[in-house]
Amino acid sequence: MASSFTFSVVTVFLATVILTVHGCSPSDRTALLSFKASLKEPYHGIFNTWSGENCCVNWYGVSCDSTTGRVTDINLRGESEDPIISKSGKSGYMTGKISPEICKIDSLTSFILADWKAISGEIPQCLTSLSNLRILDLIGNQLTGKIPVNIGKLQRLTVLNLAENSISGEIPTSVVELCSLKHLDLSSNSLTGSIPVNFGNLQMLSRALLNRNQLTGSIPVSVTKIYRLADLDLSMNRLTGSLPYELGKMPVLSTLNLDSNSLSGQIPSSLLSNSGLGILNLSRNGFSGTIPDVFCPNSYFMVLDMSFNNLNGRVPGSLSSAKYIGHLDLSHNHLCGSIPLGVGSPFDHLDATSFSNNDCLCGNPLKTC
Ligand SMILES: *[C@@H]1O[C@H](CO)[C@@H](O)[C@H](O)[C@H]1NC(C)=O
Repeated sequence: MASSFTFSVVTVFLATVILTVHGCSPSDRTALLSFKASLKEPYHGIFNTWSGENCCVNWYGVSCDSTTGRVTDINLRGESEDPIISKSGKSGYMTGKISPEICKIDSLTSFILADWKAISGEIPQCLTSLSNLRILDLIGNQLTGKIPVNIGKLQRLTVLNLAENSISGEIPTSVVELCSLKHLDLSSNSLTGSIPVNFGNLQMLSRALLNRNQLTGSIPVSVTKIYRLADLDLSMNRLTGSLPYELGKMPVLSTLNLDSNSLSGQIPSSLLSNSGLGILNLSRNGFSGTIPDVFCPNSYFMVLDMSFNNLNGRVPGSLSSAKYIGHLDLSHNHLCGSIPLGVGSPFDHLDATSFSNNDCLCGNPLKTC
């Protein structure tokens, strides 16, 4: 009994030592080599480090779980601070495709292949089977095709960054099932269709960047239920419809960029009275009606841009009570009347361009009435 117990303890101990020494699961190593074979990185030679048996030691950008020898992270950034990239004076450049063999590394928790400028082809559909994945970051390449339709299967995903590629098609409705998602960046692609109606199911989301696409339809009201959302950028799309009043009632929203769309209707008073909102860009839309007169001593806008709309009426008198307006732009509207006294003086860095191209505005910093 005792000796067989000792034997098994020794066996377990030896097995652990052997695993630690050899590291790297052989099947993960094979998958990594297939991944490497479908890419070409001519300037820095990072893949030259991907040789030898132990992929867990000195393979650039590869990390493993030290007890299992399974690969947990692939972290390859072309804009990296890492000496291998930064010393060369050249930023990263890589061509080729993402091999679906990568999907065999089912222990992966992060897959970062960012800012290589020229990796093309599609995002392998099978990535959605990597159930441990927390970070998927493929920003800054030339990926085409669609976002995998089953992306919602990645229940542990906290970061999904596919920005600055050429991804087309619609945002899959399964996106709203990503219940751990905190950071979503799909900006600068060619996405079409509308924002999923149930987008507000993403209750953990704090940043949603969907700007610079070709999205249509209106802003789903459900978005206003994401109470952790701090940063929402839907600018440079083809969104229509009016703004939900509740948008201005979101508790931690601090940046809202809706510029360069075809949004219309009145600007909800809730947006301008929200003292947490520091950056608001509504420029280049079809907003009409008057500017709600709801500014207050807590109003603190780094950016307040309502230029290039169809706003009429006066510049609201309460604007002069705001604590700070860094960059105000009311130009290219149909405003009229005198600019309230004080709008020029607490914010005397504002010049005439903030008010230019309106119908009949006058007063400091424009010509006297
Ligand atoms: C607001 O959006 C417009 C149009 O997209 C852009 O030209 C402008 O620079 C933005 N304003 C600020 C202050 O960033």
